[in-house]
Amino acid sequence: MKRAVYPGSFDPITLGHLDIIERASRLFDEVIVAVARREEKNPLFSWEERIELAGQATAGMERVKVEGFDGLLVDFVRSRNAGTIIRGLRAVMDFDYEFQMALTNRKLAGELETVFFLPSEKYFYLSSSLVRELARAGGELSCFAPPVVVEALKRKFSR
Ligand code: PNS
Repeated sequence: MKRAVYPGSFDPITLGHLDIIERASRLFDEVIVAVARREEKNPLFSWEERIELAGQATAGMERVKVEGFDGLLVDFVRSRNAGTIIRGLRAVMDFDYEFQMALTNRKLAGELETVFFLPSEKYFYLSSSLVRELARAGGELSCFAPPVVVEALKRKFSR
């Protein structure tokens, strides 16, 4: 059983994340989308909301499940008997941060590998922060986020 963990803040999950999840689920028997608590980052959506939205957005995807985690990523990955951490790489702007994170995780848990996936070019520029900014300004979101997230953002900003 080849199991991989795809961690992130997912604030909120976007079509770019879903593209990575789909690609990963073709290579692994199970992909666990691991939603980090990260309340220190003052997320727009609560941890529970981010888990719920990721669960709804991936509901039709076989081999994919969603869980929340708090604390060290490598501890969570080990606790699920997974050997791989998945991350998406967009442009070079991601590289420094991802390189640092992957090497830190390797130092902490040498048996785990980080595997990077490239999203479809149409999502190269896409990020959760861009989606939040667009939503705040009342922009059209359907090309960037799944329908459950579009609805949740509309509710958030109509208050
Ligand atoms: O979507 P993000 O915010 O870029 O995801 C970053 C995340 C959550 C994967 C990373 O911050 C993380 O793994 N946090 C858990 C704490 C941890 O293990 N830190 C050491 C990794 S360098």
